[in-house]
Amino acid sequence: MSKPQLSESHHPRPQWKSRMGFILAAIGSAVGLGNIWRFSYLCYKNGGGAFLIPYTIALLVVGIPLMILELGIGHKMRGAAPLSFAKIDRRWEWCGWWAVVCAMYGIMLYYSAVISWCLSYVFYSFNLSWGDDPNDFFFNKFLQLSSGPLQIGDIRTPIIIALALVWFLCWLIVYFGVQKGVERANKIFMPLLFALTLILVIWSVNLKGAFSGIVVYLKPNFSLLSEPQIWIDAFSQIFFTLSLAFGIMIAYASYLPRKVDIVKDAFIICVGNCMYSFIAGFAVFGTLGYMATTTNQPVADVVKESIGLAFVAYPQAISLMPAFAKIFGVLFFTSLVIAGLSSAISLVEAFSSAVLDKFNYPRNTVVTFVCVSGFVGSIIFTAKSGLYWVDIVDHFITHYGLVIIGILECVAIGWIFKAKKLREHMIAAGGTFLHGSLWDICVKYVTPIILIGLLVKDFWTEITTAYEGYPWLAILLIGRDWLVVALFAALLLSMRRWKKEVVETINSKNHH
Ligand code: PHE
Repeated sequence: MSKPQLSESHHPRPQWKSRMGFILAAIGSAVGLGNIWRFSYLCYKNGGGAFLIPYTIALLVVGIPLMILELGIGHKMRGAAPLSFAKIDRRWEWCGWWAVVCAMYGIMLYYSAVISWCLSYVFYSFNLSWGDDPNDFFFNKFLQLSSGPLQIGDIRTPIIIALALVWFLCWLIVYFGVQKGVERANKIFMPLLFALTLILVIWSVNLKGAFSGIVVYLKPNFSLLSEPQIWIDAFSQIFFTLSLAFGIMIAYASYLPRKVDIVKDAFIICVGNCMYSFIAGFAVFGTLGYMATTTNQPVADVVKESIGLAFVAYPQAISLMPAFAKIFGVLFFTSLVIAGLSSAISLVEAFSSAVLDKFNYPRNTVVTFVCVSGFVGSIIFTAKSGLYWVDIVDHFITHYGLVIIGILECVAIGWIFKAKKLREHMIAAGGTFLHGSLWDICVKYVTPIILIGLLVKDFWTEITTAYEGYPWLAILLIGRDWLVVALFAALLLSMRRWKKEVVETINSKNHH
């Protein structure tokens, strides 16, 4: 057992009130916009049911092992990502910062913008504002999309207003702390989200023609399995959907009591999240089937692109409904807002927790600073070119940032800290490993090797073809440089001095 840490005597670390509270908060982080639009769209694009095969494999070889790893290291080191990495080896601290900076000032900035679109659509649902041409409404009236990523254009007032509201809600929840804010909000959000989703699923599968959509969802087209792209999509989706390599799960586990069954909780979170996606898929494809039948076209033709699934195809389907169309729309977009907010607050909490570990500022000041800077940073996504920027930043951070950080985690914990030592810690805390050494092998060899392979393949495609045909200048300036700037910020942050109370716990070897 490690000695009590100085940091705890000065600022007691917050703790979850109950195990249920922790699990709901972790699932709240995992279940997000990614489970509804991203997952369904990836299935749709990658051969329907066939996508579920690489997805399940990714869950088993990367998702679950890394979830155990992140929860384990956060619990062992009792710190957010940077402190946990610094305790492994001071020279690795930058890696923890890179994870939280990429997630907070990369993913979260565009993610909050997408939540604000969903929020606007809750209101548009009340009178079906998109009329009979949701495509024109979304791109030309709502976003007023410019002609390319470098034609930035003005800021869209309705979007920035919704965005301010989204950040205000995040701030309000996180401000109240781990128990009174994050945990309490999730205890309301999660049951509400599950209930709403269930209503939508039952409603959708009963629509006329829903079955034809579900066939597309579940019927596998195995020939696509030989395409590397489907594997790359599945693995990066697993990172995104489980909130892995964001530093979130590390911070959340640092608030756990000493005695916990980390392995079991990791399984519950992973399986719960993926089941949610799978079930929500029925609502999405059921509705698509209904729409295809009503408009007399094949299901394969009703959606053109990922964002279009939620903001074009769905509104269109809603307008076609014979009864209660408005209620359906409000329920659908409200679910998206709730799912998005519960993920957003987890990231604000994880980033604030990283800053609080290292610097001596009051919690309230840090949370306020994070939310205000987050709001200001996300304004760029409300400009007329916002959609392109969302697309490019999302692609680069999820395909490279998250995957590289995942590999670094495997090296730092599997090899430097030693997987076996972390496993012994988890067992001592009450963890039940069925085949413990299997996890060690995964973390040390299987997971990193697969991730490196995919990364190389992905990178090769990247340099040979411009992503989505965007101009190279835009790809380099927005995509690549976002990652590079985050890396510099991480290096700078890691070079700063630790506050007095924790410095000794980092230098001491009591955790070794
Ligand atoms: N797991 C989330 C999702 O699937 C991803 C996310 C987490 C995004 C936290 C932002 C903040 O939507």
